[in-house]
Parts: sequence; C-alpha cells; structure tokens
Amino acid sequence: MATRVGDWLDERLGWGSLWQAIFLRKIPKVNWLYTLGSATLFVAVNQVVTGILLTIYYVPTPDHAYNSVQFITTQVSAGWLIRGLHHWGASAMVVLSFLHMLRVIYYGSYKFPREMTWLTGVLLLIIVLGFGFTGYLLPWDQKAYWATTVGTRIFEVTPGIGELLLRVMRGGEELSAVTLARFYGIHIWLLPAALLFLISVHLYLVIRIGISAVPKRGD
Ligand code: HEM
Repeated sequence: MATRVGDWLDERLGWGSLWQAIFLRKIPKVNWLYTLGSATLFVAVNQVVTGILLTIYYVPTPDHAYNSVQFITTQVSAGWLIRGLHHWGASAMVVLSFLHMLRVIYYGSYKFPREMTWLTGVLLLIIVLGFGFTGYLLPWDQKAYWATTVGTRIFEVTPGIGELLLRVMRGGEELSAVTLARFYGIHIWLLPAALLFLISVHLYLVIRIGISAVPKRGD
C-alpha cells in the first residue's frame, strides 16, 4: 500500500530522481576531512532552530534586552540549553566553516569546474562572520556594548567611506536603541535569508558538479 502511494506520488512529483540525485549519487573515495562541509551545515540548522526559539523571549530594546536574556537563561524551561546551543554553535560554525575552507584549499577543490562553489563559499564565510558580529551585541551587556563600540570603530578606518560606514552601522554617532534594532534586524532577517539562498546554491553546485577526489601525486 505504502509503495503504491509512493509510486503514485513519484509519477506526479518526480521525487524519486531527486532522492537519487541527492542521496544515491556516486562519490569518489574520500576521507573524514570531507565531512566538514556537512558538519557546518548541521550547525547551521542548529543555529536556525535555536535562533527561532530564542526570538520567542528575546526583546531587542536597550531597556529589556539584557533582562530578557537573563530570563531565558534562568527562568524559561530549557532556555539555558537553547541559548547555550546557539552561543556555542556560533563559535563552532566559524571554526567549522574555516576548517572546511582549509580542506578545500589543501586539496585544490576550488579549481575548475568548482570556482562558483568556492565563490559562494567565500560569501558564506562573510555571512557567518556577520552573524557573529551582529549577534554579539544582542545580550546588551558591558562586553557586548564595548566590543561593538570597538568593532564598529574598526570600520571607521576604511579609506574614504569610513565615517559614513560607522554612522550607518551605529545608526548615529553613538551606540543606541537604533544600533540594537539594526543589528537585530540584520541578524534575524537579512543574514538568514542570504545564508539560506547561498547554502542552496552551494549545495546545488556540489551535487551538480560532484565532489572532487583526493588529488594523487602528479595530478
Ligand atoms: C555556511 C558555510 C558552508 C556550508 C554549510 C558548506 C557546505 C558544504 C558541503 C556540505 C559541501 C560538500 C561536502 C564537503 O566537501 O565537505 C561543500 C563543498 C564545497 N565547499 Fe562549502 N560550505 C560552507 C562554506 C564554504 C566556504 C567558506 C568555502 C570556501 C571559501 C567553501 C567551498 C566549498 C567548495 C569549493 C566545495 C566543493 C568541494 C569539492 O568538490 O571537493 N564552502 N560545502
């Protein structure tokens, strides 16, 4: 019965060939270093799920941000766990995407025909760092406030557009409610949308082109 329903749906949706292309495709003999991309993907899913859960209690205003984070950590059931997973997941994501990139460099996997996979990877790394930068401000404690004061200052030394960049990032001269709202908006809307789009293109290319083999001497 189940197979008949499956066949009926497959005839109309064609998901069998999709399954084939994603999970049953042929891959060369690779090693554990090739799991770093999937590990990054796993943590990305963790970040999205725990991040969505955090928005239920987090309040992005200077009056309430700090207290709402304390409330999540001490009062909400499993709040400490959700926040912990998101907090440590953020560092894991930076480390893993970096290691994944080093694997790609070490094996020369960025070469033809994978230049676009590399390019989308570079953009993904920038987005991952953007998540870290914008997320760091959200607890609105002393560490967050001063780290972002220094972080945004660094952009000020950009030749020509430095001052403009600083003002756009802060939403004024100093860090304020506008900065917090801006960072929060970027952290939960702009960056996740860009992340999902780029991961889709990245994985489409990985599947379309196929994974590179471990290079042999003389390749
Ligand atoms: C959110 C971050 C990222 C995710 C989720 C991700 C995911 C993946 C996955 C699942 C694969 C296939 C398995 C593997 O080779 O490990 C892959 C391959 C690849 N990735 Fe990434 N990646 C990310 C970031 C990057 C970065 C930062 C770069 C380089 C700048 C990059 C460049 C590549 C390349 C060139 C391949 C093809 C490798 C080959 O064919 O051997 N990726 N990625």
